[in-house]
Amino acid sequence: MSKSVEKTLIDRRSIRRYERDAISNDDMQFIYDAIRNTPTSYNGQQYSVIDIDDPVLKEQIYEITGQKQIKTCNHFLVFLADYNKIQIIGKAKGIDKIPFAGTVDGLIVGIIDASLAMMSALVAAESRGLGTCCIGYTRTASPAKLNELLRLPQGVAIVCGLAIGIPREIPDLKPKQPQSLIIHHNLYRRDDMLRELVEYDREITIYNETRSGNKSDNDWAKHIISYYTEGENYHMGNALQKQSFLTHD
Ligand SMILES: Cc1cc2nc3c(=O)[nH]c(=O)nc-3n(C[C@H](O)[C@H](O)[C@H](O)COP(=O)(O)O)c2cc1C
Repeated sequence: MSKSVEKTLIDRRSIRRYERDAISNDDMQFIYDAIRNTPTSYNGQQYSVIDIDDPVLKEQIYEITGQKQIKTCNHFLVFLADYNKIQIIGKAKGIDKIPFAGTVDGLIVGIIDASLAMMSALVAAESRGLGTCCIGYTRTASPAKLNELLRLPQGVAIVCGLAIGIPREIPDLKPKQPQSLIIHHNLYRRDDMLRELVEYDREITIYNETRSGNKSDNDWAKHIISYYTEGENYHMGNALQKQSFLTHD
């Protein structure tokens, strides 16, 4: 049974607790088909996905990332930017090196393709009543360890993980920024957005203090900025260069 597109999109929230039951083969095939039909830059399909359902491997990834959803979900999908496949066929056609893969735009293209594929999977899974949670720590926690564990070749980098399982909780919907802050009409808004931002900051802070389940009393903007501070120390450039990305502009 599928949910309507409207319900799937508007009612979506991240699910971090799952039942032990397996996802049906039919649901997984639908998710794979949705992934495969993702629009991609040049139709080059500069991405791949590793579907992990091996409990031992999920446990190992949990230990590296600290994200419990990875071991409790039924399938953990890892979305990759991937120039390995085009490199293989390019070589067979006598093209030794594909410099685009090492450019900034090459990386952006791979990230966009993999991210769109993740959203295809997420919407497909949610439409079948499954719960999902994107896991960015798959990218940042320890790129070297995870690249080795998943045997990633050169030209391949982790973009994001997606945990999928049968929901064991339905958390409250998180309030998002108002339409006026997200959708700009024709031109970028250049009037003062501070009042609306302060109002949203207050709304989400109250939500965090009163939501069902895990409550927190942190200030939204300061909390987000503290994530950025943590992110400044990931040194992703170095990790990506080791995978042959970002070798030139
Ligand atoms: C790229 C990306 C990475 C994320 N990484 C994590 C993560 O590592 N751990 C986690 O618990 N949630 C993660 N999330 C989920 C966000 O925290 C969540 O989407 C956000 O708080 C909004 O809540 P909602 O999805 O329920 O609307 C991630 C989401 C995205 C889009």
